[in-house]
This record gives sequence, C-alpha cells and structure tokens, in this order.
Amino acid sequence: MRSITALWLFLLVVPAYITGYAQQRYIIPGATWQDTAGNPINAHGGGILYYNGIYYWYGEIKKGSTWRVPGSTWENYRVNAGGISCYSSNDLLHWKPEGVALQSDATDSTNDLHISKVIERPKVIYNKKTGKFVMWMHIDSQDYSYARSGVAVSDKPEGPFQYIGSVRPNGSMARDMTIFQDDDGRAYHFYSSEENQTMHICELTDDYLSHTKNDHRILVQQAREAPAVCKYNNRFYLFTSGCTGWSPNAASYATADSIMGSWTAHDNPCRGTDADSTYHAQSTYVLPVQGKKDTFIFMADRWNKTNLEASRYIWLPLKFDAEGKPDIWWKEEWTIEGAAL
Ligand code: DGJ
Repeated sequence: MRSITALWLFLLVVPAYITGYAQQRYIIPGATWQDTAGNPINAHGGGILYYNGIYYWYGEIKKGSTWRVPGSTWENYRVNAGGISCYSSNDLLHWKPEGVALQSDATDSTNDLHISKVIERPKVIYNKKTGKFVMWMHIDSQDYSYARSGVAVSDKPEGPFQYIGSVRPNGSMARDMTIFQDDDGRAYHFYSSEENQTMHICELTDDYLSHTKNDHRILVQQAREAPAVCKYNNRFYLFTSGCTGWSPNAASYATADSIMGSWTAHDNPCRGTDADSTYHAQSTYVLPVQGKKDTFIFMADRWNKTNLEASRYIWLPLKFDAEGKPDIWWKEEWTIEGAAL
C-alpha cells in the first residue's frame, strides 16, 4: 500500500517538477509561460524597460472570451480591453506579477481606456530629467477608426500609471507603435500611419509626454506594422510585419545610420523553417540584454485570434553577422548565453 502511494506521489510530483524546472531554466518559445505565482503570463504586444537592475515587462491583458466584431469585413477579433500588466524579473526567466500597471475602465464608454476600446502595444521608458516613467500605447475604437496614441505616467516602474490622454501625432493617424530611447536620452515614437500604409518616426519632447514637429515619414506605402527597434554598431534597425490582422506574415527590416535620416528596406531577417510566417508570430520588441554587448532578444506574439487569451510569446536570439545583417533562427528552447540561471 505504502509503495503504491509513493509511486503515485512520484508520478504526480516529478513531472510537475521537471516541467516547472524546464520552464524556468530555458526560454521555450510558444510554450505557456508561467509567472512566479504559477499563472500564465498575460502581457501581449509587450515591451520591456530595464531600470535599476530589474527588467519590467509591460503588455496587453487579454482575458476572457474572444469575439468577432459584428459587421467587420476583416478578421476583427477582440476581447474586452483588460488594461496593461507589469511583471518584473532580474534574469528574464522568472517573472513576478506586479499587478495591473494601467487599469481599463468598465463604466464610461467615452473613456479611451473603456473595456470596449483597443489598448495595445504599450511601451514604457524612464525620463531621467523628470524622474517619471512614461507609457505610450495604441488607443483605438473597436473598428480601429480612432487611430491614436495614448500616454500615461507614473512615479514607479510598476505603476499605477495615470492616463493623460491620446493624440494623433501632428494630426496623423497612429496605430501599431513602439518607442525607442536613444543613448543621448532622446526618445522617438515609431507608428504605423496613413491607414497603415506609411510608418512615421516622431521625436518626443524632452519630458516624453508629447510630440515635437520632428516627424518623419519612412517606408512610404510599404504597409508595415508591429515596429520593433534596436541600435547595433551605431546603426538603427527597425523590424516590422506586414498588415494581415492577427494572422502572421513574413517580417522584414529596415536600417538607417541616423534615426531621422533615410531608411533602407531589406528582406526577411528570419531564417529556416517557418521564416515566412515569423514562426507564426508578429514582432513586438527588441530587447538589448543588459551587460551583454550585442546580445538582443527578438520578441514576438503568436496570436491565437479566436482565443486571444491563449496567445503565446516567441522570444528568439537576434544576431548580427560581420556585415551587420540580422539573423533570427527558430529554437525549441534556449538560454541567454552566459546569463546567471
Ligand atoms: C495587427 C496589430 O499588429 C495588432 O496589434 C492588432 O492591432 C491586430 N492587428 C488586430 O487585428
């Protein structure tokens, strides 16, 4: 009897231990990633801030049932806007839930943050001059005709963030977006504009809370979205997807020697099997790993369009060859080289 109980304990406990162990020792693209409380990480379309030795991951909370907006002619699947989550980590493997950084609102349907709205692709940067954490995000109506960028601010990285409002930068439509903070402290807003046909880069003001007139059109009529930016060897790299709703497509990238200079479009940075669908995912951010020169993580979302809550994360190493050409290869599981695990 005792040996049967022991066997059951072994069968129940050991696999769980192995799974948990594997999950936290390796990055496993496409798996369900659990936070340190044992719940699936809910941070889609996300971005990462590194501040005071800690990584903060912000993302869209996609919770509850997914439905298709009635009358939509495209695959407009959505969930109630759940606000923006925040998780913290010091090794990029163990993520502690920090709660809801920016709350959505269930009462006022005119509010940008109402659950009926779109709150997507949050990116947070820290402003050294003001001591504030600034979050920019895509704000939209459920038919995506509002096409604006929202901004919120906090004294602490984990929030709570106070929503300030939304704009069409310099009067231009703004949907998918990212923020890039350069080494000199200047910050730039990359956003899909002009009905998603043309990307814009706009320099933010010194406090990062509004747009300057330094607004530049790039990738004109290329129809790119899901921008993710990094700087390598003094060159700027912009990774994007095509515009096919929640369905994946081939990524491409563009480069520039000066961020507000001219950008050259290039082909797909992904290699090997499933490169033509970005491994069934869509870019959201490129993370420079701190303290490891030239080590970058390409972060993407594998959307599950009919069950958005079940969307998964694809993180892969982004490497550059001797000519500065980026390479992204699929990996079943991997560790960040030399990282303390
Ligand atoms: C593609 C965008 O990249 C996503 O963030 C989201 O807005 C979907 N479209 C909606 O279909």
